[in-house]
Amino acid sequence: MKYSSASEKKPGLLAPAVQPCTKMFPGAWLCWASLLLLARPIQPCPMGCDCFDRKVFCSDQQLATIPLDIPSHVTDIVFVETAFTTVGTRAFSSNSNLTKVVFLNTLVRHLEPDAFGGLPRLEDLDLTGSSFFNLSADIFSNLSSLGKLTLDFDRLMALPEDLFRHMDNLESLQLQGNQLQTLPGRLFQPLRYLRTLNLEQNLLNKLPKGLFQSLTSLQILRLSNNMLTSLPEGLLANLGSLQELFLDSNAIEELSPQVFSQLLSLEKLWLQRNSISHLPNSVFSSLCNLTFLNLQDNVLRTLPADLFTHNLGLFHLSLSYNQLETITEGTFANLSQLVFLTLSHNAITHLPMNAFRDLKQLVKLFLNSNNLTALHSALFQNLSRLELLNLSKNQLTMLPEGIFDTNYNLFNLVLSGNPWQCDCHLAYLTSWLRLYNDRILNTHTYCAGPAYLEGQLVFILKQEQLVCPISPGHLGFLALGMDDREPVGSWDLSVEGRAIRSQCTYSNREGTVVLACKEAQCHWLSIWLSSRQGSDSPAMAYNSSQEWELRSSCGSVRVIVSIEALAAKP
Ligand SMILES: *[C@@H]1O[C@H](CO)[C@@H](O)[C@H](O)[C@H]1NC(C)=O
Ligand SMILES: *[C@@H]1O[C@H](CO)[C@@H](O)[C@H](O)[C@H]1NC(C)=O
Ligand SMILES: *[C@@H]1O[C@H](CO)[C@@H](O)[C@H](O)[C@H]1NC(C)=O
Ligand SMILES: *[C@@H]1O[C@H](CO)[C@@H](O)[C@H](O)[C@H]1NC(C)=O
Ligand SMILES: *[C@@H]1O[C@H](CO)[C@@H](O)[C@H](O)[C@H]1NC(C)=O
Ligand SMILES: *[C@@H]1O[C@H](CO)[C@@H](O)[C@H](O)[C@H]1NC(C)=O
Ligand SMILES: *[C@@H]1O[C@H](CO)[C@@H](O)[C@H](O)[C@H]1NC(C)=O
Ligand SMILES: *[C@@H]1O[C@H](CO)[C@@H](O)[C@H](O)[C@H]1NC(C)=O
Ligand SMILES: *[C@@H]1O[C@H](CO)[C@@H](O)[C@H](O)[C@H]1NC(C)=O
Repeated sequence: MKYSSASEKKPGLLAPAVQPCTKMFPGAWLCWASLLLLARPIQPCPMGCDCFDRKVFCSDQQLATIPLDIPSHVTDIVFVETAFTTVGTRAFSSNSNLTKVVFLNTLVRHLEPDAFGGLPRLEDLDLTGSSFFNLSADIFSNLSSLGKLTLDFDRLMALPEDLFRHMDNLESLQLQGNQLQTLPGRLFQPLRYLRTLNLEQNLLNKLPKGLFQSLTSLQILRLSNNMLTSLPEGLLANLGSLQELFLDSNAIEELSPQVFSQLLSLEKLWLQRNSISHLPNSVFSSLCNLTFLNLQDNVLRTLPADLFTHNLGLFHLSLSYNQLETITEGTFANLSQLVFLTLSHNAITHLPMNAFRDLKQLVKLFLNSNNLTALHSALFQNLSRLELLNLSKNQLTMLPEGIFDTNYNLFNLVLSGNPWQCDCHLAYLTSWLRLYNDRILNTHTYCAGPAYLEGQLVFILKQEQLVCPISPGHLGFLALGMDDREPVGSWDLSVEGRAIRSQCTYSNREGTVVLACKEAQCHWLSIWLSSRQGSDSPAMAYNSSQEWELRSSCGSVRVIVSIEALAAKP
C-alpha cells in the first residue's frame, strides 16, 4: 500500500481527492491498482510509475526526477508523494498531448521558467500540497488552453499580479488552504470566463475593491475561513452570474446595504460564524432567487421586519446561535416557500401570535434552546405541513389547548428540558402526545411540578393525575408554577370532560392569566402576579384594576381584576 503508508508521514497536509475513486477506497493506490488490472498495460512504462492506456501514475518515493521516458501519447500524468523538488524548463515537452498534470503532496518547490511549456492542450494542472511560498509571474503564461488550475495547500503567501495573465480559458481556480493575506487588485482581471473561484482557508483580511470586477461569469465564490472584517462597497458589483457565495467563518461585523445588490442570480449565501450584529433592512432585497441563507452563529439581536420581504423563494433559513430576543411580526410574512427554519440557541422569550402565519410549506421548525415561557395557542395554526418541532430547553410550563390541532403532519415534537407543570393545563398536551407523537423524542421530558409529580415522565401521566387545585365556593387566586401550590379545598377532577369542549380554558397571549370554565360556569382563575420573564404584563399595584382579553378555542372573554389592599383586622 504505497500511497496510504506514505500519506501518514505528512499528517499536516490535507490531500483533496485527485480522482473520484479515493472516496470509495481507503487508499488511492487500491483504486489505481484495480483500474490497472482492468486496463492490462502492455506498453513500456517509466520506473516507479504505472501506466495504462493514456494515463501514467508515479507514486514512488524514490522517484528523484521527472522520468524522461514517459510514452509520448500519454494524456494524463499524476505524481503522488514523489521526492523530486524541481520541475525543469519544458519538462514535459515530449508529451505534447498531455491534458492533465497532477502533483499531489510531492516535494516540488521550484518551477523553472516555462516549466509547463510545450503543452498546448493542457486543460487541468493541479499542484496540491507542495511548498512553493511564491510563484514567478510568468510561470503559467503559456497555458492559454488551461481550464482548471489547482494550487491548494501550497503555503503560498503572495501572488504576483500577472500570474494569470494569459489564462483566457480558465474556468476553475482553486487557491484553498494557503497563507494569502492580501491579493493584488488586478490579479483576476484576465479571467473573464472563470466560473469557480476558491479562496477558502487563507489569511485574507482585506480585499481590494476591484478584485472581482472582471469575473462576470463567476458562479461560485468561496471565501470561507479567512479573516475578513468587512466587504468593500462595490466588491461584488459585477458578479451578476454568481449563484453561490461562501463568506462563512470570517470576522465580518457589518454588511453595507448595497453589498449584495447586484447578485441577481444568487441562490445560496453562507454567512455563518461571523460577528454580524446588525443587518440593514434592504441587504437581501435584490436576491430574488435566493433559496438558502445561513446566518447562524453571529451576534444578531434583532431582525428588521422587512429583511426577507423579497426573498420569496427562500427554502432554508438558519438564524440559530444568535442573540435574538423575539421575532417581529411580519418578518417571515413573504416566505411562503420556506421548508426549514431554525431559530434555536437564541434568547427568544416570546413570539408574536402571527410570527409563522405565512409559512405554509414549513416542514422543520427549531425553537429549542431559547427562553420561551409561553406560546400562543394559534402560533402554529397555519403550519399544516410541519413534521418536526423542537421546543426543547426553554422555560415552558404549559402549552395552550388546541395548539397542535391543525398540525396534521407533526409527529416529531421535542419537549425535553422545560419546567413542565403537570396539572390540568397539560391535559391537552399529554393526550396529544399519547395519540400522535414519536415517544423516543420525549424520553427525557419530565414534570418540574407540582411537587408530588416532580421528575415524572410527562407522556406516561394519566389524565386523572393532571389536576388543578381550586378554592371551593369562589374564585381562587392561584399562581401557576408556584411551589406552594398545595390543595386548598376540593380537586378539580373534571378534565376528562375536555374532549367534548364542555370545558374551555381561556388565556392571554403570555399565558400569565388563565381562566377555566365548564359549560356556563367559570371555576378557576389564575393570575401570574409578579411579572414573568419576557411577558409585557407588569405586576399589579395595590388598589388598581386591570383588564385582560382571554382567548380559547371556544371564543374570548374579558376579565377585570381589582386589587384593594385593606388594613389587617386584628
Ligand atoms: C496527439 O493527438 C493527436 C490528435 O488526437 C494524434 O493525432 C497524435 O498522434 C497524438 N500524438 C501522439 C504522440 O500520440
Ligand atoms: C512561451 O512559449 C514560447 C515559445 O513556445 C517561449 O519562447 C516563451 O519563453 C514562453 N514564455 C514563457 C513566459 O515561458
Ligand atoms: C521566492 O522566495 C524565495 C525566498 O523568499 C526567493 O529566494 C525567490 O527569489 C522567490 N522567487 C520568486 C519567483 O519570487
Ligand atoms: C432566477 O431563477 C429562475 C428559475 O430558476 C431563472 O429562470 C432566472 O433566470 C433566475 N434569475 C436570475 C436573475 O438569475
Ligand atoms: C410581502 O408580504 C406583504 C404582506 O403580506 C405584501 O404586502 C407584499 O406585497 C409582499 N411582497 C412581495 C414582494 O411579495
Ligand atoms: C434566559 O433568561 C434568564 C433570566 O433572565 C437568563 O439568565 C438566561 O441567560 C437566559 N437564557 C438565554 C439562553 O437567553
Ligand atoms: C392563518 O392563515 C390565514 C390566511 O392566510 C390568516 O388569516 C390567519 O391569520 C393565519 N393564522 C395565524 C394564527 O397566523
Ligand atoms: C432538540 O433540541 C435539543 C436542545 O437544543 C437538542 O439537544 C436536540 O438534539 C434537538 N432534537 C432534534 C430532533 O432536533
Ligand atoms: C387602598 O385603599 C384603601 C381604602 O379603600 C386604603 O385604606 C388603603 O390605604 C389603600 N392602600 C394603598 C396602598 O394605597
